[in-house]
Amino acid sequence: MMFVYLNGEYIPEENARISTNDRGFLFSDGIYEVIRSYDGTLFEPSAHLARLGYGARALRLTETGFDYLPEVASELIRRNGLESGDATVYIQVTRGSAPRTHRFPPKDTPLTVYVTVRRFNPHDSEQQQGIAAILVPDQRWARCDVKSTALLPNVLANQQAVDAGAFEALFVREGMLMEGTHSNVFVVVKGEVITPPLTNYILGGITRGVILELCHKLRIPHRETTLLSSDIPEMEEIMIVGTTVEVTPVRKILNVNFQNRDPGPLTRRLQSAFRERVRQGTAGIRV
Ligand code: PDD
Repeated sequence: MMFVYLNGEYIPEENARISTNDRGFLFSDGIYEVIRSYDGTLFEPSAHLARLGYGARALRLTETGFDYLPEVASELIRRNGLESGDATVYIQVTRGSAPRTHRFPPKDTPLTVYVTVRRFNPHDSEQQQGIAAILVPDQRWARCDVKSTALLPNVLANQQAVDAGAFEALFVREGMLMEGTHSNVFVVVKGEVITPPLTNYILGGITRGVILELCHKLRIPHRETTLLSSDIPEMEEIMIVGTTVEVTPVRKILNVNFQNRDPGPLTRRLQSAFRERVRQGTAGIRV
């Protein structure tokens, strides 16, 4: 039996109930986080919490501090016997349950806070061999910096990738390569590691931040700057990074001239640096 956390209680998953009036259900009026657990240790919990707080402020939720959630996640990991191996923690916070109106419900409406943990099978062969991706037009809203549960464009684009035999879809907005449906993108051009800058059009990925920090530490030339999809054929390496994909090479992009590329040296270097960083079990920025 799996235990989940819902609104202050640890309960068996099958007993977890939310109202059909929940604004998460009716409007996707909520935010979420996915945190990786390695042998029971949460990876970068404070960065995830900071991003959740940022999203809560963007949504003008009545509560924006969720400092207790890493402890809830750890308790769930214990209760579900996931202290060893890989797991993911899913956190969702919605504006709560109230009769449907577009305007916010009364201020005293409690938020819905839901946390669950799950065994995770790492994408080892993808990380070893690299994945196929496709490019898709970015049809998302202009607040991709908020980790909103409103993920319909991401869901549709990812399914389009799967239907094409690919693993990830990469969003292109006005000729610019932005990010994946559930990952950030890094490329190598002339030996330099490049990722798009943080704007309202991409998510400030926690893994992205760690990779930039590792580049700095390892003195790998790196830069945050706009990437043009038209430059993809000339790119030496492309990788996606994220909580679930960690550092995964892109082997080919089906609808562009980027084919059969073996994972490159900088991808391999960042993969092993990332592994080492996980092994150290460190948290926070260390340079
Ligand atoms: N997604 N960009 C998008 C659109 C994402 O949804 C994610 C993560 C990332 C990578 O962020 P991070 O390094 O903080 O995981 C980038 C999670 C894993 C998900 O939706 O399941």
